[in-house]
Amino acid sequence: PVYPPKITSVKALVESTDFSSLPSFYTFTHNLHDELISDDPEDSIPIIDISRLVSGTPEEQFQVIHQLNKACSDWGCFMVINHGVSESLTKAMIASFQEFFDLPEEEKEEFQGSHVMDPIRCGTGFNPSINKANLWRDFLKCVAHPEFHSPNKPAGFSEIALEFSKRNREVVTVLLKAISKSLGLEESYINKAANFELGLQLLAANYYPTCPEPEKAIGIPSHYDHGLLTILVNNGVSGLQVKHKEKWFNVNIHPNTLFVQVADHLEILSNGKYKSIAHRALVNNRATRMSIALAHGPSLDTVIRPAPELADNESHPPAYVELTYREFLELQQTGKLRSKFRLNSEQ
Ligand code: SIN
Ligand code: FE2
Repeated sequence: PVYPPKITSVKALVESTDFSSLPSFYTFTHNLHDELISDDPEDSIPIIDISRLVSGTPEEQFQVIHQLNKACSDWGCFMVINHGVSESLTKAMIASFQEFFDLPEEEKEEFQGSHVMDPIRCGTGFNPSINKANLWRDFLKCVAHPEFHSPNKPAGFSEIALEFSKRNREVVTVLLKAISKSLGLEESYINKAANFELGLQLLAANYYPTCPEPEKAIGIPSHYDHGLLTILVNNGVSGLQVKHKEKWFNVNIHPNTLFVQVADHLEILSNGKYKSIAHRALVNNRATRMSIALAHGPSLDTVIRPAPELADNESHPPAYVELTYREFLELQQTGKLRSKFRLNSEQ
């Protein structure tokens, strides 16, 4: 395909005066309707009330841990309610990201990093070496932990982003304890094995402008997330799909609900008992969609391996290669990492 000389963002493209139809370099050759979406109401994403993990009776806590076990093994994702992150904070975060994307293109350029590990990086889905087509998506990513970074504009962004990242990290801390227990491990197992106190947290926002031919473009193609758990929220416009039992499911994230996905390093630590979930973002021609993804991972220098308790016999041998989180991310960038990095798959 012929790529444009310089496109700073999909937003700028859509807002340019001569824009009318989908440029060919955004054409993503696939059939979005190749797999059906289940309409069985029994088959819906689990909803988990996590307030009972903190304030419930031992019996109630046990029930939630059981629900987490089922959600992580059957689905690899779940909705969380009563999580303690206020709806007003999430709304303020979404509004602040919107203001960031609304900054003049020249002002955003200052934050255009080039490497995955750049602490602040904004950009657009233009990466022909990895993707078959340009992605219909702009993004801003900030490292929020162990050290917090954020752009110094728009006004108030840093304060809101710091608060939002901290509150969500607290939710993940509670979840990781309960998930450790759900695997039959001691409560602090994952926290210790991943050195979570120094764990990497990425705060990322995706911006998907309305698209004139949504069937022919894609926001983000199917992928798995690195890290332990990803928390996702959005601006009320749908587009996220997850793959469950070979079918794509639409995910509607309600206000005041956090959508949680199992990511690769939880799959590795659990020796495959819990699987990271494949997901993708579609685009539409009705409304601009924004999503915020918070990736929570181990510390970068921690070697992640299956818990010995879950990889201790012939029927459950260790099924994953041992790598530090940093090595994993670097391999993923070079395209040498299979999204499912199993010991017995050739590289
Ligand atoms: C992502 O995978 O980070 C994007 C998900 C979304 O836009 O909902
Ligand atoms: Fe993702």
